[in-house]
Amino acid sequence: MTGWTEGYVGGIDYIRAFYRELSPSLLSFALLLRGWRPPAELDGAFAYAELGCGHGVSSAVLAAAHPTARFEAVDFNPAHIAGAQRLAAEAGLDNAAFLEESFADYAATGATTGAKDLDMVALHGVWSWVSAENRAILVDLLRRRLKPGGLVFVSYNALPGTLAYMPLRRILVEHTADRSGDLPERIEQAVGFAGRLAALNAGWFRQADEVPARLESLARKSPNYIAHEYLNSDWTAFYHADVARELAGAKLDFAGPSVPMEQIDELALDPNAIALIQEVRDPAYRETLRDVLTNRAFRRDLFVKGAERLTPAERRERLRATRFTLLVPAEDVPEVAITPVGRIPFPPDLYGPLAEALAGGVPSLEELTALPALARHGEDAVLRALMMLTSLALASPALPESGLAERKNHTDRFNAAVLDRNRTDDALGTLASPVIGSGVAVSRVEALFLLAQRRNLDPAAFAWERLSADGLALSRDGVRLATAEENLAELRGRFGSFTRRRIPVLERLGIV
Ligand SMILES: C[S@@+](CC[C@H](N)C(=O)[O-])C[C@H]1O[C@@H](n2cnc3c(N)ncnc32)[C@H](O)[C@@H]1O
Repeated sequence: MTGWTEGYVGGIDYIRAFYRELSPSLLSFALLLRGWRPPAELDGAFAYAELGCGHGVSSAVLAAAHPTARFEAVDFNPAHIAGAQRLAAEAGLDNAAFLEESFADYAATGATTGAKDLDMVALHGVWSWVSAENRAILVDLLRRRLKPGGLVFVSYNALPGTLAYMPLRRILVEHTADRSGDLPERIEQAVGFAGRLAALNAGWFRQADEVPARLESLARKSPNYIAHEYLNSDWTAFYHADVARELAGAKLDFAGPSVPMEQIDELALDPNAIALIQEVRDPAYRETLRDVLTNRAFRRDLFVKGAERLTPAERRERLRATRFTLLVPAEDVPEVAITPVGRIPFPPDLYGPLAEALAGGVPSLEELTALPALARHGEDAVLRALMMLTSLALASPALPESGLAERKNHTDRFNAAVLDRNRTDDALGTLASPVIGSGVAVSRVEALFLLAQRRNLDPAAFAWERLSADGLALSRDGVRLATAEENLAELRGRFGSFTRRRIPVLERLGIV
């Protein structure tokens, strides 16, 4: 082991980002779909830990939206935790602890209390990027701290899809090591060099169709992301079956993919493939075969510790009681969705009335299927459409209505602190919704509009004052707007569309 970073990339912070897949409402929905009893009621007093929390943005937003729950977010990088603690103090997050601890430190604290006290644990962007020794610490920690019935979310680079990227990763690692100087600069050079190699279209590059697209997307990513994704000394891609076997050491069973649409086999596999997979009895092997046949490169899995199976009637009852709402204006729901498994039609006679109903409130599945325009499609079709919309971040499952007022007090305080940071360039890019119990992305310009409205100021003038103070200017059609007049005119136009399209969504989500 090399110092406190234990081979994990040091000297460069991770990106600050919110990941909606960690939201209890989505986790619970995914579990219910597979017929498992969720570990806790969403408006209750559950305990949630995020291990390897980075800047803690996801945990902070989730803590804001679940005042009755307790959050522990752990990361050994002091720069990450210092920022998270400052945000928690500013935003009044009295139900979240941001702990500057390694997994081993955190496991040792739990060992002294001996309590099995965690209902949900998130391991996002961790499993593939830490050593086998640290994974063993995590398994032991889950065995000792997760309650019976508890849930684990784990994401990782999956095989065989990741095979295609292995030489690319090696080039990035070797090339950054081959240079001296500033790490972000070396990363940029490495990505550029890999691009020049790919342009030769020789050898491995000729066989790896996916790589040019990945390189193009890397050229647009920050060095912070690239460093944490590719440059750790531990970087392991896993077959699902191996992850399942390792986690079995914590008495965990695979419960299903956390992305609802990944639970629908017919989307990605043809009937012959589905039939072949069904011949296999072992669930871990079956899931691994799904990855082989879809060439999946990244997985987001749910595991449960002795969770109970719901009866079909209970599952249906709970799903019927689940409420949903739209995250975009109804007209933004497409007729053909571009998804990771290709283009999928969204028939307007189903998706049209569904989008309208979801844009008009927070209806339950039961209420939705009672609407004449949806009733004729049947409950299964409506549920399937909801699985698609929630997977593509066009809609979200919501929390129960009870406790909304308390949640809104908590998110209002958090959102005020987040918005205030947008005066300067310290923006977080996510506000907390007490309705869906999750985060909602807002751009800096949108945040400045909201801040101006709260202060009864002219939104365009205020936004321009703050942006120009940071030396920023807007662009239109890829051209930077040079003068104050041009920027103000652009901001007025954007405010008009923000008021028409975004404000109704943010109101419905309890954010304004
Ligand atoms: C790729 S980031 C993911 C952050 C966050 N979960 C997210 O999804 O945004 C992985 C994080 O794990 C932390 N980490 C890695 N090894 C660790 C260890 N042994 N103990 C504690 N934190 C660790 C790193 O500092 C880093 O912030």
